[in-house]
Amino acid sequence: MTTITRTPTVGELASRSLAAVRILEEHGIDYCCQGRRSLDEACREKGIDPGALISEVSAAEASPDRSARDWTQAPLAELVEHILTAHHFYLRGELPLLERRLAAVLDAHQERHGEMLRALAAVFAALKAELESHMGKEEVILFPFVVRAERMVNSGLWSSPPPFGSVRNPILVMEHEHDSAGRALEKMRALTGGYAPPPEACNTWRALYDGLAALERDLHVHIHLENNILFPRALAMESAGRG
Ligand SMILES: [Fe+2]
Ligand SMILES: [Fe+2]
Repeated sequence: MTTITRTPTVGELASRSLAAVRILEEHGIDYCCQGRRSLDEACREKGIDPGALISEVSAAEASPDRSARDWTQAPLAELVEHILTAHHFYLRGELPLLERRLAAVLDAHQERHGEMLRALAAVFAALKAELESHMGKEEVILFPFVVRAERMVNSGLWSSPPPFGSVRNPILVMEHEHDSAGRALEKMRALTGGYAPPPEACNTWRALYDGLAALERDLHVHIHLENNILFPRALAMESAGRG
């Protein structure tokens, strides 16, 4: 576990453990796309005492059922494997299911709720297309490079730079796309009133909102693991390898 002596950023606090992630979520603090903000600033905005929040995180981490792998220390190859199996695999299964559920809800309720549901479907379709292309780039270019680079650095064989120059270049693109996904999630949350189904909503509609809320939670953790842990560690490894 990382010991933080100065005022941490939100991302640094979230990187300590999944318990920290859960506490930040409970307080409605964005720890992935807004992870570089100082914890003080984020807490001020929410009217929370940052010291009390850190104590809450420490207490949660001390509870054995909330313990989790410390990804700030684990080998990058294991972190990449975890992102692929826990998050990319989830998205590849869930995105088409949600798309079908959304189409069914739109079909059944377009008379009274057509405008909102069409807007929701448009944001979701753009997010789905972007995420599919985004994951492809991570899986084919960035992640294999990180895994290979870690192996070479560990064996003292680090030599030629990757074909894209520096790992910083694909990382900047990925971060830009994460911001875009974050904005799409905000739009969907706003359109649906925080995923609150209207009283007349059918079961499919309720399942759609449950699924979209779960997608939001999962993407926040997924983007956090990449923006706040994998990418900074890959950049640090690259500069150490080059040095
Ligand atoms: Fe990813
Ligand atoms: Fe990503």
